[in-house]
Amino acid sequence: MNLQQLFRKKPLAAYNDDIQTSQLKRTLGKWELTAIGVGAVIGGGIFVLTGVAANQYAGPALALSFILAGTGCLLAAFCYAEFASILPVSGSAYAYSYGTIGEFFAWFIGWNLILEYMMGATTVAVSWSKYFVKLLHLSGIQHIPAWLINDPFTAKEEALKLGIPPPSFSINLPAAIIVWAVTSILVRGIKESAKTNNIIVAVKVAAVLFVIAAGVAYINPLNWQPFIPERVVDPAGVSHYGISGVVTAAGLVFFAFIGFDAVSTQSQEAVNPTKDIPFAIITSLVICTTLYILVSLTLTGMTRYTDLDLGAPVASAFSGLGLNWASLLITIAAVIGLISVMLVMLLSQTRIFLNMAKDGLLPAKLFGAIHPHFKTPWKSTILLGFLSSVIAAFTPIEKATKMTSIGTLFAFAMICLAVLILRKTQPALHRPFRVKYLPVIALTGFVFNLLLMFSLDQSTWLRLLVWSFSGVLIYFLYSAKHSKLNKKE
Ligand code: ALA
Repeated sequence: MNLQQLFRKKPLAAYNDDIQTSQLKRTLGKWELTAIGVGAVIGGGIFVLTGVAANQYAGPALALSFILAGTGCLLAAFCYAEFASILPVSGSAYAYSYGTIGEFFAWFIGWNLILEYMMGATTVAVSWSKYFVKLLHLSGIQHIPAWLINDPFTAKEEALKLGIPPPSFSINLPAAIIVWAVTSILVRGIKESAKTNNIIVAVKVAAVLFVIAAGVAYINPLNWQPFIPERVVDPAGVSHYGISGVVTAAGLVFFAFIGFDAVSTQSQEAVNPTKDIPFAIITSLVICTTLYILVSLTLTGMTRYTDLDLGAPVASAFSGLGLNWASLLITIAAVIGLISVMLVMLLSQTRIFLNMAKDGLLPAKLFGAIHPHFKTPWKSTILLGFLSSVIAAFTPIEKATKMTSIGTLFAFAMICLAVLILRKTQPALHRPFRVKYLPVIALTGFVFNLLLMFSLDQSTWLRLLVWSFSGVLIYFLYSAKHSKLNKKE
């Protein structure tokens, strides 16, 4: 293996073949694509993580954390949009970098996208389980054994809080079951139809608008005082609140923005991909950022940040005021809405695996196997379902979120750099969407995303290092040798 091999690129003609031979109909316009973006973005981040982020780290300044995280995302989104306009194919950033930067870089991005999509879906499953439990409570089912609805770490913490002995075994069963339910839909191949997606997006956006409109009457401005609570360090050495808390919360709620790039996986079904995909990526992000800022201000205004529920904070803010009917509506919308996020994330993951398998970087027998009847990549979908359900059953939400965020932030930082490098190395490439002032946008995006990564704790970094190292190892031991480009050479 020599250095040149690391930079070998998939010929652009091969992508053109993919586009020409695609059987998919081009039916999606720019607003449908935007709806797909919004549908993939609004989920566990706003419905669940706002609780932990405000209660533990940012206080009422959670809105600032959303602005920080949204800015990092928006900068990366511009770069993403330029990338997507050069190569309007499915396969996300993995495919773009393979055609433009080179194989090793593409592999590395693909490897980190697993954290974004697979760990992302897992985190949403854990979020879903919290709203499902809330739904059971609101329906009068109060006594659910704690060991059936919590991972072992959370179960132990809860038991300590209550002063009772921790259970010897604990599993988040609803989270594991919902992953299997979504997996079985994906194996059968119900493609996200634009119509169903539009309905689910409408339900979710309506719920979010409802929270803002109904909650505003219950805002007590005293709850916003102090807006940035004074920094404290707990006995375990973990820092809370203050400016550093706002930044830590930004790293956490960054998760709420993940998914806008799923729009790019729809490229082959878009009527006018080169223009509409960039439009949809940026518009969906702007819509979600605005909604998030308003929801976080409403929530921290309705309930003192120290009293915010860590499980289902949005619904609980209403039930806490005796508005059980409003809480029930929000809970139902969340339970439906979060399923669509999981569908998009797991679907995107299998598509990326499929692309990698086609290129020879992953074993085709497993990741490229298409079901003879359902025509879906069933083996990789089942493997993905298995891994996600096990992780969802036994991992606390904060750990899963941080892992998703750090992997995605890393991928975004790399994309910012890659687009800039590409401008320099291949200036003549046709770019239907060109970012204005790219050096400023890309470098700020790179630094911003890196800073958000540094706001996450050491153990998350350690996990990222182990993950990256295993990725590099697999590349040299398997992918580099089995790459289709290697065989051609
Ligand atoms: N942004 C998505 C969510 O918050 C992943 O659930």
